Amino acid sequence: MATLFDVPQFIEDAPSLTVDERSNAAPTQAAVVFDNVGKVFAGARGASTAALADVTLNVARGEVFGIIGRSGAGKSTLLRLVNGLEKPSSGAVTVNGVNVGELDERGLVALRRRIGMVFQHFNLLSAKTVRENIALPLRIAGAPKAAIDKKVDALLELVGLAAKRDAYPASLSGGQKQRVGIARALVTDPHILLCDEATSALDPETTQAILALLRDINRRLNLTVVLITHEMQVIREVCDTVAVIERGRVVETGPVWRVFGDPQHDATRALLRTLVHDLPADLAERVKPLAGIGQADVRVLLDVRFTGDAERDPDLAALARALSTGDSSVNFVHGGIDRIQGHAQGRVIVSAEVHASGHAAVAAQVAALLDRARGHANHVEVLGYV
Ligand SMILES: Nc1ncnc2c1ncn2[C@@H]1O[C@H](COP(=O)(O)OP(=O)(O)OP(=O)(O)O)[C@@H](O)[C@H]1O
Ligand SMILES: [Mg+2]
Repeated sequence: MATLFDVPQFIEDAPSLTVDERSNAAPTQAAVVFDNVGKVFAGARGASTAALADVTLNVARGEVFGIIGRSGAGKSTLLRLVNGLEKPSSGAVTVNGVNVGELDERGLVALRRRIGMVFQHFNLLSAKTVRENIALPLRIAGAPKAAIDKKVDALLELVGLAAKRDAYPASLSGGQKQRVGIARALVTDPHILLCDEATSALDPETTQAILALLRDINRRLNLTVVLITHEMQVIREVCDTVAVIERGRVVETGPVWRVFGDPQHDATRALLRTLVHDLPADLAERVKPLAGIGQADVRVLLDVRFTGDAERDPDLAALARALSTGDSSVNFVHGGIDRIQGHAQGRVIVSAEVHASGHAAVAAQVAALLDRARGHANHVEVLGYV
């Protein structure tokens, strides 16, 4: 790796910017700090949009940081503040210790060479070959041809596109185009890679391949990656930390396993709906409240959640024993356990037989079951009776 990411002399020529070198950086040091950032866009006839308000966030060096939120929440604006494409209306954005808002044009040019950006629609030049597209940022920076060739060849290998070096974008698949976009973003040896919906235009399999590439680059180069996505499984698979933005504010942030395992905000729960094992329609139709059930063969349907902060993985056998009275049956009817960052978490819907007659007796029996089950899961709730 040393030869590929040796920093050429011409790139080092950044007098107004004192960027720490990657090699001697403490791993926990922040790469990007948002300090109470607000962004207001002026509109027509004095109207204005508050795109961001009170945003305080730390992106640690070397981590993959995900940003999620509804359309229009302010995600792209947040990302564009990092490389100075937007200036904060209030507060400060600091990149590797440098206040982006205080940089002059020359400083911004130097900053942007250290921050790569990858877009949803690739933004490749159709009249230029793969090689030429990747080389472009170095050509603009006035790098010598030999240095450019060496760098582009190394990046073509890194992204697995050596065979397509002389192809034109029109002859590439979406995934291949995005590999070119990633190589181009890396050509100036950035410290930070910004990805705005980089996999949104790709099929699931290609998305997986691009994510694996991003994760590989993140690990091998200790590159900080900040990515926006609408795909929650992308966050689950590659991010260390996630921030949830709602109407321009950060409503929740933390390690992915914690935020996904036990979301605290309605906006987060809404975004995670695609991942959650909700009650299937056939069961939902049959579930009744206690008052609506007959007297014989009652089963209680329980919603059981594991948030991933237990010391051991979920013990479903112990849960089943806790829910069973005598020889009554316990069925796991829906759900599953996922593993995020080494934390086993998930949601299972369990149906348990209740031997009691009369609503009061059933309720007492279920209360006892809940008490026992709670020792084996983080949340246990009654969904209803069937
Ligand atoms: N240049 C601009 N001028 C005026 N308003 C803007 C500008 N850029 C963004 N906005 C507004 O700021 C808000 C946040 O926009 P932003 O593009 O950051 O959202 P987003 O979360 O990236 O949405 P999406 O998921 O649809 O890409 C929106 O209300 C948008 O209309
Ligand atoms: Mg956007």
